Amino acid sequence: MKILLTGAGGQIGTDMLPILVSRGDEVLAFDLAPRPDTCPPEVEWLRGDITYAAEVNTAVERFQPDRIFHLAAILSAVGESVPHRAWRVNMDGTRNVLEAARIFGVDQVFYTSTIAAFGPGLDQPVGDHVPLRPTTMYGLTKVAGELLGEYYEHTWGIDFRGVRFPGLINAGIPGGGTSDYALFMYVDGMRDGRYESFCTPEAKIPFMYMPDAIRATLELSDAPKEKLGQSIYNIAAMSPSADEIADAVRARIPGVELTFAPDPLRQAILDSWPDALDDSNARRDWGWSHEFDLEAMSDDLMPKIRALIGDPGVPA
Ligand SMILES: NC(=O)c1ccc[n+]([C@@H]2O[C@H](COP(=O)([O-])OP(=O)(O)OC[C@H]3O[C@@H](n4cnc5c(N)ncnc54)[C@H](O)[C@@H]3O)[C@@H](O)[C@H]2O)c1
Repeated sequence: MKILLTGAGGQIGTDMLPILVSRGDEVLAFDLAPRPDTCPPEVEWLRGDITYAAEVNTAVERFQPDRIFHLAAILSAVGESVPHRAWRVNMDGTRNVLEAARIFGVDQVFYTSTIAAFGPGLDQPVGDHVPLRPTTMYGLTKVAGELLGEYYEHTWGIDFRGVRFPGLINAGIPGGGTSDYALFMYVDGMRDGRYESFCTPEAKIPFMYMPDAIRATLELSDAPKEKLGQSIYNIAAMSPSADEIADAVRARIPGVELTFAPDPLRQAILDSWPDALDDSNARRDWGWSHEFDLEAMSDDLMPKIRALIGDPGVPA
């Protein structure tokens, strides 16, 4: 299958590329950033700006993908510091991708939404079909992207589907999300012996380990359309508090110092997100099931982070 992966140089894309290649997919990676060393040689890398329709159209016309996995975005914390840029990348970028899919007849556009699509005050766990009243620029652009994709589906017949990811954790360098404190506890805890989280110990949001997130993406993308009762699905795995994550790190790095100094801006964003998601529709419609809880993820993650820190390409 031919897959165009936008935002391929980010936290998710970097881990997804080798998996797509191992499935035998032909991949065109599209990103503003230069080709990273980790990109498999089989992948064609195209530097481009998702906010310029002409660049997106040229890529789609030439490559003729069967599916577009649309990852390129400005995430929550960065989005609050440069909201105009988040608007442009997340809104114009998504519209450009959907337009290119319409013009050049792409079968499927896969959208990566987020728990940031939800706002405060919802009953927990939060289901798929609740009022979407986010308080961040990131969240509101993601809600608009979900709705725009559904518009293209019912108006133009594009197969539009996607997931609302929890905060994602992998052995990598986070891209500016408000859930980054979790990964930094592992990375800085191992590298520096200490990390001060920008949230309270009680802060609690849904998390997922990257292998589960990528498997969910591929499973939903491959699911028969007639099984899907909706376009966008919540997916869930675990909802540890920041202190529970710290305990999992402490159990694996003796003597590590993990402290908390809440940053008002990022704590407010965390407070506006769900504690836990109800993903029963995903489990029913396309058989979603997570593999990694906090303990299984921590066990798998530690050796990978050790290898990452030993990599001379990663700043010490
Ligand atoms: N990582 C998470 O925890 C998480 C959680 C929920 C949803 N998501 C969603 O998943 C997707 C991927 O997330 P990620 O963590 O890999 O993000 P990331 O910030 O690590 O990567 C985003 C990529 O998009 C690229 N990009 C930014 N502006 C661009 C532009 N104008 N043109 C082309 N490329 C551009 C960046 O260079 C980067 O490589 C996003 O849509 C995000 O909203 C991520």
